[in-house]
Amino acid sequence: MTAPLTLLGIESSCDDTAAAVVRGTQVLASVVAGQTDLHAAFGGVVPEIAARAHVEKLDLCVEEALAQSGLSLADLDGIAVTAGPGLIGGVLSGVMCAKGLAAATGLPLIGVNHLAGHALTPRLTDQVAYPYLMLLVSGGHCQFLIVSGHDDFTRIGGTIDDAPGEAFDKSARLLGLPQPGGPSVEAAAKTGDPKRFSFPRPLLNQPGCDMSFSGLKTALLRARDDVVADKGGLTPADQADLSAGFQAAITDVLIEKTRRALALYLERAPATPTLAVAGGVAANGAIRDGLTGLCAAQGVAFLAPPLRLCTDNAAMIAYAGIEQMAAGARDDMTLSARPRWPLDKDAAPMLGSGKKGAKA
Ligand code: KG4
Ligand code: ZN
Repeated sequence: MTAPLTLLGIESSCDDTAAAVVRGTQVLASVVAGQTDLHAAFGGVVPEIAARAHVEKLDLCVEEALAQSGLSLADLDGIAVTAGPGLIGGVLSGVMCAKGLAAATGLPLIGVNHLAGHALTPRLTDQVAYPYLMLLVSGGHCQFLIVSGHDDFTRIGGTIDDAPGEAFDKSARLLGLPQPGGPSVEAAAKTGDPKRFSFPRPLLNQPGCDMSFSGLKTALLRARDDVVADKGGLTPADQADLSAGFQAAITDVLIEKTRRALALYLERAPATPTLAVAGGVAANGAIRDGLTGLCAAQGVAFLAPPLRLCTDNAAMIAYAGIEQMAAGARDDMTLSARPRWPLDKDAAPMLGSGKKGAKA
């Protein structure tokens, strides 16, 4: 038996600077330095601020990850780095850092697609067999992927505008709730009446697995303005009812589209049918419960990796690099940073490009 590969992973495609050391499927260290505070005043990620912060933090994160793992650069088999898609200044910072380390050590360099990192996480955490269905739902991504190999992804649907996390964040802002919006809308929704306001279920009357969330935010804005015009402001009960109605609409759309995606996936007769989720929105209790119920009804295993590995991190990049390297993939100093990099080369381009950069 060959020894498992040990890789350093580097991630800097959005607003988290991260480094990790992974051996086989064992996460030896995973360090994530977020930038939420730096962007808080701007209502979204500012690419120039993000890139500058990555440059400042990357070497510290790498040092910290190596120290936590108890290994030195000499113990590694390679260096994996996110080479796209994402905010180009950030991706470039990571790629330059990885190239410098590879040049200095002679270690192989592996460029990884950030979305592949998310999509392969169920194999890192649970050694799930191919093919499985992946639902990526975060502030930056929303797509269904049938994952059939480390380099074999079929995108069967996704958002055509905002990602759900983005919709939660914008809605929280409209309702005067704190950021990040997902957890605060979910908390407010707990005591709310989801039926008081009627929100649309966009694209549910159309076939397929594509989704749209930007209209929901507009509907919320209108409903809020009606209440404000009527009463002069929002009470906590209004906030709760608006949150509950909004969350119910997003949940309904995600669950129905997942039901359709599962049907397409199950046509492939997978030996161990599995739906896995990744992304911060997977933390939402209502969405999680809906997906759990749907999978139970269809005889499909439901897998939600721990949140620290569902949200942006470098362990997933190191692991994707391990699968690529084991299959013989290598990059060199010509590796370039890509703002867009669709996982499924045959799928039509995604339209959405929200506050966190390109969706695919
Ligand atoms: O995966 P993630 O940490 O970062 C990227 O988007 O890259 O996801 C963050 C997103 C935010 O938009 C946040 O509002 C959303 O995930 N989120 C939630 C919940 N927790 C985080 N959305 C709904 N319900 C939650 N409980
Ligand atoms: Zn991500």
